[in-house]
Amino acid sequence: MKRFFILAVVFSTLAFTISRPTVSNFIFTTVNDVPDLPDTPYDYSDITFPDHLLNAQDDTIDLGYEGGGIDSLSFADITDNGATLGRVLFYDKKLSSLETMSCATCHNQAMSFAENKAVSDGLTAPTLRNSMHLNDIAWTNKEHFFWDMSESDLRTMIRLPLTDENEIGADMDDVAEKLGATSYYPQLFTEAFGDPVITEDRIAEALVQFISSMTTFNSRFDQEAANNFAGFTTQEQLGLDLFSTNCNNCHSQGGHSVFGDIFPADIPILEIFPFIFNNGLPEDPEDSGAGNWEPGFSNLFKIPTLRNIDLTAPYMHDGRFETLEEVVDHYSDEVEENEWTAGFFPPGGFDFTDSEKEAMVAFLKTLTDESFLTEPRWSDPFGLETDIENFSIENLIIRPNPTRDVAVIEYDNPTNELVTFHVFSADGKLVLNENTRSDRYTLDKGIFHPGTYFIEVLMDDKKSTAKLMVQ
Ligand code: HEC
Ligand code: HEC
Repeated sequence: MKRFFILAVVFSTLAFTISRPTVSNFIFTTVNDVPDLPDTPYDYSDITFPDHLLNAQDDTIDLGYEGGGIDSLSFADITDNGATLGRVLFYDKKLSSLETMSCATCHNQAMSFAENKAVSDGLTAPTLRNSMHLNDIAWTNKEHFFWDMSESDLRTMIRLPLTDENEIGADMDDVAEKLGATSYYPQLFTEAFGDPVITEDRIAEALVQFISSMTTFNSRFDQEAANNFAGFTTQEQLGLDLFSTNCNNCHSQGGHSVFGDIFPADIPILEIFPFIFNNGLPEDPEDSGAGNWEPGFSNLFKIPTLRNIDLTAPYMHDGRFETLEEVVDHYSDEVEENEWTAGFFPPGGFDFTDSEKEAMVAFLKTLTDESFLTEPRWSDPFGLETDIENFSIENLIIRPNPTRDVAVIEYDNPTNELVTFHVFSADGKLVLNENTRSDRYTLDKGIFHPGTYFIEVLMDDKKSTAKLMVQ
């Protein structure tokens, strides 16, 4: 009688789960999935602008940013708990449909949140353009995002990589369910927003707060600017002079320079011009930049901030230049005239001497804030995972995820190595031990009563562990 009752419960649970239109029977997460966070959140909200940015009145510091002021208001919404949640989300592969990718996959702190590839590997295809560095984007240009500046609001923009099937590919209903089932998100959402409800708006808001907090005010440039560049070498000083005469019209450090000064600020279309332009690269037949959304702006691309530029190679929207030397060679000798370049570049380029080129590169390197790269508040809170990943089985995924009845485990196994599967129940009992030389293994629903399982996959000297939850 008792046994019959239990069976009935199991069957009715199964029947209930199977009849639901979208079923998330299996929730797959890596085992080291608890973020390591400080007891008191890091300070994200107290952002102090250096004086030289706010009060750039001194004519000798002619770097363009006195034009129309900087966009400091974009910091107003940052809270320490909101940005902390954003940090966890930014690094969490659980957001991605196959749990293989996070924002950090293409935006790496060691590269000032860019990637060292011309284009990034998306989930199914290479990305169209070079991954962009994320430092200082909230204040240098708070209203224009992507290389073609097609997005004007960071909160809306963030949803694109989040849900793009070639990037994070998050299905927001699944994500809310998955995150809600972890031991830490409900608390993080409560600390950030007052209650544990997980919504797309809140995810976007937290990510925006985290990214907006990324500033690089500890560069040598900033330290020296406070001191009228007295500590610059002669070479760096020459680079600074060359930069202020030739480059700062466009790379205006966040100031609404040139056009902002000339035209009244209430003509909205002109607002984009301090931030977008053409720099004499050969026309790209594959990509017309802002021409994608406004034919009159064909061949115009976002002018990115040059802060931390030494760390973000390769350069330009298509990653065509590998080094800053190549970039400076372009501006010196390879500028192609077109409808936009007149008045900004002499025909062919600035024709720098070799020592001027070296000086320009030396100056660009003073824009690097090294502390940014190791700053804990922007670092991966899932630290453990990266250590283990070096020895983990490549491209291990369980799918479909969620799934209705069976779970297929797939992974790279090009040389048909012997692979062993151990499935443990939550109380540590081995419920399955199987070997295969294939690159996939199908877990039959036979063993999956509701509960948590740990799947250990062993191949050669590699080992990965995954958590499987059956609801
Ligand atoms: C597969 C790689 C990839 C992933 C994953 C990815 N990005 Fe990006 N990101 C890019 C590329 C490429 C661009 C430039 C896109 C363009 O201009 O067409 C970009 C641009 C951006 C920009 C615009 C920066 C600027 O200066 O305009 C922001 C902000 C951004 N990504 C944030 C995120 C966030 C947040 C996530 C996670 C939710 C994320 N990205 C995930 C590759 C990626
Ligand atoms: C007329 C405007 C203009 C001028 C002047 C200009 N740039 Fe640029 N710069 C741009 C634009 C636009 C881009 C992005 C182009 C693209 O990707 O198609 C860019 C990109 C760059 C990049 C690569 C940024 C990245 O994230 O990949 C560097 C470095 C750079 N410029 C340095 C300089 C230097 C140094 C000078 C002066 C010698 C200079 N620029 C002068 C408009 C300009």
